[in-house]
Amino acid sequence: MTVHFIGAGPGAPDLLTLRGRDLIAASPVCLYAGSLVPDAVLAHCPPGARIVNTASMDLDAIIAEMVAADAAGQDVARLHSGDLSVWSAMGEQLRRLRAAGIPYDVTPGVPSFSAAAASLGAELTLPGIAQSVVLTRTPGRASSMPEGETLANFGATGATLAIHLSVQNLDHVVDALSPAYGAGCPVAIVYRASWPDEKIVRGTLGDISGRLDAAISRTALILVGPALAAEGFDESRLYAADYDRRYRPQSADSRWAAWSPGDD
Ligand SMILES: C[S@@+](CC[C@H](N)C(=O)[O-])C[C@H]1O[C@@H](n2cnc3c(N)ncnc32)[C@H](O)[C@@H]1O
Repeated sequence: MTVHFIGAGPGAPDLLTLRGRDLIAASPVCLYAGSLVPDAVLAHCPPGARIVNTASMDLDAIIAEMVAADAAGQDVARLHSGDLSVWSAMGEQLRRLRAAGIPYDVTPGVPSFSAAAASLGAELTLPGIAQSVVLTRTPGRASSMPEGETLANFGATGATLAIHLSVQNLDHVVDALSPAYGAGCPVAIVYRASWPDEKIVRGTLGDISGRLDAAISRTALILVGPALAAEGFDESRLYAADYDRRYRPQSADSRWAAWSPGDD
């Protein structure tokens, strides 16, 4: 028996991994985390599976489901939206399972920041503009932020910021980032990336608050940084015609000249 933690992806059912789909299909119990996991993903559960929405359950009750499945020798598919490495509450579940001696494994999913970038058709790390992406959030009712993890501090780096769980704090985001990035800095808000009702709002730190539809109050990502609208960026050296590299040695003297694709 194993509890399979599976990243269910950002919403579109075909953004689930093949491994995730197969584990869901092989597990007689499925625990899924609320409305962000689409019905079409749950449709992979085998006939007669016990399918439980854990949105209204506390941690003890969720773990009790896993303990009961363990006693019955039944695998569990545990689904969370996006990827499990960020804001999934997986860590506390794994700690309980380790204490109980219940085996588990983890299958990654497509995170919402990737889905949002795809919807925007944007590379978040453009040469000479930004080479880092910060996945962060603002404080919420249930979660404070560790000291030092402030938007002002992240903004001082000039990186592309992917701000989760914060569309209801947009004014705070704008106030915190404007000193570092300036009012003209591009911002994109992607609501329900990859869902049929996805919406994209583009603007700048100076005008985004006025552009946001009041109906967008959750399940949205705020992306901020000059990479979002840059056209004057450098081309990467990787594909430069004169760049000496493993797959494209430029001369007989190249350090890569004797290398062939099977070497490593
Ligand atoms: C509890 S966190 C889950 C994050 C998830 N584990 C991930 O990999 O993206 C929920 C937040 O993720 C973002 N989010 C999740 N799915 C989204 C989507 N389809 N479109 C835009 N933002 C999304 C929103 O900021 C939302 O408030």
